[in-house]
Amino acid sequence: MWGDYFCSRAVGTSATGVLVVHHSSRCTFTIFHTIMNPILAEAINEQIRAEFHSAYIYLAMAAWANENNLPGTAHWLRMQWQEETLHATKFLDFLHSRNASVHLLAIDEPPRSYASLIDVFEHVLHHEQSITERINVLYDKAVEHRDRPLQILLQWFINEQVEEESQVQGILDQLKLVGSDGPSIFLLDRQFASRPAPATNPE
Ligand SMILES: [Fe+2]
Ligand SMILES: [Fe+2]
Repeated sequence: MWGDYFCSRAVGTSATGVLVVHHSSRCTFTIFHTIMNPILAEAINEQIRAEFHSAYIYLAMAAWANENNLPGTAHWLRMQWQEETLHATKFLDFLHSRNASVHLLAIDEPPRSYASLIDVFEHVLHHEQSITERINVLYDKAVEHRDRPLQILLQWFINEQVEEESQVQGILDQLKLVGSDGPSIFLLDRQFASRPAPATNPE
């Protein structure tokens, strides 16, 4: 019967993204193919939007930092902006590798002003916590639809979110420690200037 594989009468995708091959009127094979479930592809496109939105927020924060004489912080946030675009393209490349369509959705305008440096990093932390929640929901969907490759990809992002939240929490702790002491903020800003560029192909 496998010899009849290329003699399929009909090939289609079921609602669950499974490729169904009908070999003849008497015989139906269901083949688990790499075609993505459209619900998951749509959710990944939404996640691409969220990652680009993150990038946009951090770029706007970098502009605020520059305008407020904090060049080291501006640099740190630019690196974060780059990292978020890499996150977005990692999902985008995954859609390509699964033969799913990329749909780039509109990105909301980011906030332009902040009350203080602590305010900036509190927003970063809250934003990353919301991204963590999104990744967790996406992972649950991947489990629900039994998409193992997506689960493996998302395990990378789950680890990444632990790193993101921990890094930003550390910065916030330092900022709260120095409070509004100008010389200490100056030194911390210089420290932020040493953040290296993210790896172009994060593994
Ligand atoms: Fe991200
Ligand atoms: Fe990161």
